[in-house]
Amino acid sequence: MEDTATLRIADENYTFPLMVGTEGEKAIDTRSLRSSSGFITYDDGYGNTGSCQSKITFIDGEKGILRYRGYPIEQLAESSTFIEAAYLIIYGELPNRGQLSQFSQNVLRQARIDVGMNNIFEGFPHNSHPMAMLSAMLNTLGCYYSELASNNRERDLENFDQAASVLLSKVRTLAAMSYRMKQGLPFIYPKGNMGYSQNFLHMMFSEPYNEYYPHDDVTKALDLIFLLHADHEQNCSTSTVRMVASGGANLFASVAAGVCALWGPLHGGANMAVVKMLQEIHDAGDDGRKFIEKAKKGEARLMGFGHRVYKNYDPRAKILGEYCEKVLKALGRKDPLLDIARHLEQEALSDDYFIQRKLYPNVDFYSGIILKAVGLPLDMFTVIFAIGRMPGWIANWKEVAESSSRIHRPRQIYVGPTIRDYVMMKDRGRDWPPAAKE
Ligand SMILES: CC(C)(COP(=O)(O)OP(=O)(O)OC[C@H]1O[C@@H](n2cnc3c(N)ncnc32)[C@H](O)[C@@H]1OP(=O)(O)O)[C@@H](O)C(=O)NCCC(=O)NCCS
Repeated sequence: MEDTATLRIADENYTFPLMVGTEGEKAIDTRSLRSSSGFITYDDGYGNTGSCQSKITFIDGEKGILRYRGYPIEQLAESSTFIEAAYLIIYGELPNRGQLSQFSQNVLRQARIDVGMNNIFEGFPHNSHPMAMLSAMLNTLGCYYSELASNNRERDLENFDQAASVLLSKVRTLAAMSYRMKQGLPFIYPKGNMGYSQNFLHMMFSEPYNEYYPHDDVTKALDLIFLLHADHEQNCSTSTVRMVASGGANLFASVAAGVCALWGPLHGGANMAVVKMLQEIHDAGDDGRKFIEKAKKGEARLMGFGHRVYKNYDPRAKILGEYCEKVLKALGRKDPLLDIARHLEQEALSDDYFIQRKLYPNVDFYSGIILKAVGLPLDMFTVIFAIGRMPGWIANWKEVAESSSRIHRPRQIYVGPTIRDYVMMKDRGRDWPPAAKE
């Protein structure tokens, strides 16, 4: 293959180098396009734009492949834990026994929240959304650890290990605190003898007089959900983290922005939307068939289906789909929503509309059913995603901070009004503004 690409505009040829990633991903390096030709590329939604080079996660959406640092997600789901995967994602290699134990200890030691932050929690109205609280509190955390959040890249990188363990640990504590604050329950402190996910469930559901000990399969399911969400390449929230980091902002500010980006229903809010949708289908006495017809007419969206990158089964959905039964069995429960989900999946996978558009279940399709079974309220679902995604955000921040990459600053095609003179208030009559000229 040639190692350059040529673009012809009018009578002029412009030549650009080609780039090939370690998995054979091909790109045209257009960095000199504007300076050499005066043109920019237009790519609404960035579906064809590589915004960075990254060594963290590889996805082949056509084949349904996801790997963290080269390790297949299926192997990690089978044999690893969230904390080990977090280490792998952040530091690039699997830890040995000593490194893992040290890392887990560092995370555990950071679980406590300064009591001053309780007052901030108390200032939130009781109907606050936990994602809003989480983003605000992560940024606030940067104020309590100002030495780790200096916006001086060298200093922030020197303190990176500590900042990473503070965030990994405290995102979980803050999430549990936001839940308890809304329930009017006292905050519960983490325990030294519990693992990451078990401790989260303990902080969520224990009472001062009645400790909560989850079934091992429930703890494992939550750990698996965290692990499967730990990184996912240049999605909306991770790109946001990188964007903020590119301006030199500290890790705390960058991940707080990531939480806001994650909140929307097309991104991290989808797991919650799936359960709402399944419940509505159930309440309407539908088995999914009518809903699918509505989705095909564009009157509804089949939440938990479709993905910008996966044009094949999302490997994470496959793992969680299989795990659903296990969790329900461990809890001794049946959930009619799972039956509806299975039915929707069956119907959609054999329907031309979904086949032609390559719409398959994504990770959110089954995660919501597990989270509901575990007893988490709907508005905490996206928070769970945020806890899981924290290692990916941290690793991506580090990659930006360690690189010599320029501040991220896309261009645009301006399509607004051309130059016009300011109109004085006295001259703006009742029929202001004037109708736009065709
Ligand atoms: C994930 C998602 C935002 C990707 O969006 P995208 O890459 O911009 O894809 P588009 O919205 O352009 O969809 C392409 C086509 O498939 C259809 N489509 C996409 N997702 C669909 C869904 N969940 N249900 C029904 N139709 C869907 C679109 O209507 C469009 O049809 P058209 O070509 O006839 O106009 C989108 O599939 C979606 O909204 N899914 C539901 C939300 C969700 O589960 N999000 C979590 C992602 S992990």
